[in-house]
Amino acid sequence: MAEQSIRWHVFADVYELISEAESRISRAAAEAIENRGSFHIVLAGGTTPKSLYQRLAAAGAGGPAWHVWFGDERCLPAGDSERNETMTRTAWLDESGIPSEQIHGILAGPDPREAARSYAAELREVGQFDLVLLGIGEDGHTASLFPDHPAGGEPGSESAIPVFDAPKPPPERVSLTARRLSDAREVMVLVTGGGKAEAIRRWRGGEDLPVSRVRPAGGVDVFLDEEAMDSVGEPGQG
Ligand code: 6PG
Repeated sequence: MAEQSIRWHVFADVYELISEAESRISRAAAEAIENRGSFHIVLAGGTTPKSLYQRLAAAGAGGPAWHVWFGDERCLPAGDSERNETMTRTAWLDESGIPSEQIHGILAGPDPREAARSYAAELREVGQFDLVLLGIGEDGHTASLFPDHPAGGEPGSESAIPVFDAPKPPPERVSLTARRLSDAREVMVLVTGGGKAEAIRRWRGGEDLPVSRVRPAGGVDVFLDEEAMDSVGEPGQG
């Protein structure tokens, strides 16, 4: 597998980080729509991405050429507030002007295998994503790819897989694989808070974490605040 190339962007605070992320997304959308007529973005769950969605809503981002996909979904009843789709709809999508048939939710319900199969089938019609947004967890997970679980980073891996026994609730989820998340023009990982500093230290030290398996040809842009980039322990030396 190709090496992961990473650009680290450290911001003084979450506000600056979100504001730069918002302008980058708007730029990527404008470019994609001008050159290819549509913009395919993959959304992440989590608290940092949620602040970004609120910011995108305030900026009036979205429109008829946007297509929204999800990096993962939690197997919970439709409309449950813990579902990533519900969170993103409430924070942004419902008012974004993106046609609802272009908001491609993962139908993660009682049968995660079937939900993964049908999302993978839907994704067959889609080429490279324009932009993938990801978060990371304290343990280095990204989307719903957890340590010691399959990440599907190998060439030929399915686009979406069912996840069982996730260490973060709920235990059943559906996730895009590292291989499919890597098939993107741009990948942005948003990381804030001191709780993530250890995961960042391990990632920079070259450990094989789920997030390390995402390897787009153009590299990964990591947007961090200073707390997440806490240099105690000499990151990069491990
Ligand atoms: C999920 C997310 C997950 C998330 C990270 C970061 O559904 O759990 O997709 O991968 O992005 O756990 O979440 P926080 O920003 O809340 O720490």
